[in-house]
Amino acid sequence: MSIKLSNGHNMPLVGLGCSVFPEPPSVVEKAVETALDIGYKHFDTATLYNTELHLGNALRKAFDAGKVKREDLFIVTKLPQNAMAPERVSQFMDKALRDLQLQYVDLYLVHWPVGMLYRGNEKEMVPVDGDGNYLYDANTDLEAIWKEMEKLVESGRAKSIGVSNFNEKQLERILKIAKIPPVNNQVELHAYLQQPQLREFCNKHGISLTAYYPLGGLSRKDYPAKLKITVAPKLLEDPVVLDLAKKYNRSPAQILLRFSTQLDVAVIPKSSNPSRQLENFQIMDFTLKNEDLELLKSLDQGESARSCFSWPGAEKHPEYPFGHARFVPPPAE
Ligand SMILES: NC(=O)c1ccc[n+]([C@@H]2O[C@H](COP(=O)([O-])OP(=O)(O)OC[C@H]3O[C@@H](n4cnc5c(N)ncnc54)[C@H](OP(=O)(O)O)[C@@H]3O)[C@@H](O)[C@H]2O)c1
Repeated sequence: MSIKLSNGHNMPLVGLGCSVFPEPPSVVEKAVETALDIGYKHFDTATLYNTELHLGNALRKAFDAGKVKREDLFIVTKLPQNAMAPERVSQFMDKALRDLQLQYVDLYLVHWPVGMLYRGNEKEMVPVDGDGNYLYDANTDLEAIWKEMEKLVESGRAKSIGVSNFNEKQLERILKIAKIPPVNNQVELHAYLQQPQLREFCNKHGISLTAYYPLGGLSRKDYPAKLKITVAPKLLEDPVVLDLAKKYNRSPAQILLRFSTQLDVAVIPKSSNPSRQLENFQIMDFTLKNEDLELLKSLDQGESARSCFSWPGAEKHPEYPFGHARFVPPPAE
């Protein structure tokens, strides 16, 4: 099952998330091998995750063994925050393609609207000063970056382009200047953070949505405390989800993933465990009834359930996308 993007390409509704932190990036190679055997076609990575090379290795092996053809896959990667300047878009696309060992990606996303400082080192994706402060580039020009993203489609390096973690206002600005409109916005979305307004906006403008943290992002419990990522909501243990799992004779993860896909939102659950990969992939052979969709809709906690905020200090950046609820103003001079 796929979503038809506004440019006519198809994006499979279920993909494999290839951000495996805190596991080492190399686990992705095995994870992709088992996922390909199961039938996954959609793989989501990012330059930030350091897994492009491992995804690329697994794909190359599968192509060489004749297991799968390039044109049957949907590969997504993302422009990192230290590349958020027009003159670096092409450079970082080329770096991603080299690591992925591919001629093109199916979808290239602007990972965050918030740019970070570039100090001449491509690998320094999250620059930090000697005191541990994350270093941002306050001059991020989203419109100018988008013009460079369009050139990637024109040169054939990306079949489609989109964004991630953009709010409605930022999308509106891009739509206003775009010759090639974004086909996708990848955002945190799950039963506790359902984003009805953003979904309505995107639907109206032909922008598909992909949900990250579709299970609530369990792996976050292992993140270092300094990243200010809140404790994972216990979405997989919510009583409503557990009751529905019993009713449909499915796992809680399957209920949650089916819920998002029934909202026409693609899901990219991460798992390096083959049996959970299989479980997450087998969700299209049942349908949640309307009354059960309504039950799940009632779990929405809105913005209070958001748990991914980028790096500390991002809230002071002019393009911070999530409102300024967590913005702490600098002391008056
Ligand atoms: N655009 C962005 O800014 C952004 C931000 C964050 C993430 N992402 C993307 O979204 C993907 C998914 O996010 P995520 O990995 O943080 O969150 P997630 O997919 O919601 O949760 C992953 C966690 O759930 C566990 N899990 C997987 N399947 C399960 C199942 N059937 N039952 C129980 N537990 C299960 C995994 O453990 P096991 O591996 O042990 O199964 C892992 O700990 C990432 O890999 C990345 O590609 C994008």
